[in-house]
Amino acid sequence: MKIAILGVGNIGGTLGKKWADAGHQVVFGTRDANSRKAQALRQALPNAKIDTVANALSDAEVVVIATPHATVADLVKQNAVSLAGKTVIDTTNNFGALVVNNLATIQAAIPTAQVFRAFNSLGWELFANPQIDGQTIDHFYCGPDNDRRPALDKLIAEIGLHPVWVGTNDVINIVDALGSLWVTLIFQCGYPRTIALKLVQR
Ligand SMILES: NC(=O)c1ccc[n+]([C@@H]2O[C@H](COP(=O)([O-])OP(=O)(O)OC[C@H]3O[C@@H](n4cnc5c(N)ncnc54)[C@H](OP(=O)(O)O)[C@@H]3O)[C@@H](O)[C@H]2O)c1
Repeated sequence: MKIAILGVGNIGGTLGKKWADAGHQVVFGTRDANSRKAQALRQALPNAKIDTVANALSDAEVVVIATPHATVADLVKQNAVSLAGKTVIDTTNNFGALVVNNLATIQAAIPTAQVFRAFNSLGWELFANPQIDGQTIDHFYCGPDNDRRPALDKLIAEIGLHPVWVGTNDVINIVDALGSLWVTLIFQCGYPRTIALKLVQR
């Protein structure tokens, strides 16, 4: 698939490296191709295509938003035309706020986009190394139950995670709560950033 990743930091760089290794055409969109983070990404992934946000989006089928939460309103407004109809993955978090995600902001700017909420509820280190004691980490996500969903399952699996679809975006607060739980366990209960929840069944 043609994947545009907006943001070349921890989340964007980690996901992009994995998908490039899996054979996808990955282009990173950044505001500054010479930023410290862009340079670090080029060192880690010498063949990385790093371009402007507009150029990265032009040909993409899937768009991953991996920039700070507060940047998303402007990003989607400025690029609404090229984002129309695309699969958009919102990874952004505004922990502590009433609404942690950017779903409403994205949908208001791009009503035709198919928005998924994924890669928000675990730390980037777990996306880089998704096995714990030989077990594959589960990744809980939500989004439309349509023909885009199998592609999301595949993209999550290519990161090395086990995808668990929780429902449409009607349950986005549940997916966000898993992120809040992860953060609370780490920052208030002293667990390391390498913890994850596992769905078990008999
Ligand atoms: N870190 C985690 O473990 C984690 C886990 C789940 C979700 N998230 C969410 O994922 C998103 C990215 O987190 P991160 O840890 O990858 O952050 P990061 O390492 O700080 O990277 C952020 C990226 O966003 C870019 N950026 C900042 N302001 C921008 C703007 N106005 N327009 C365009 N690009 C801009 C930065 O560009 P420059 O290179 O120019 O600075 C950088 O490439 C956040 O919303 C965060 O809440 C993070």
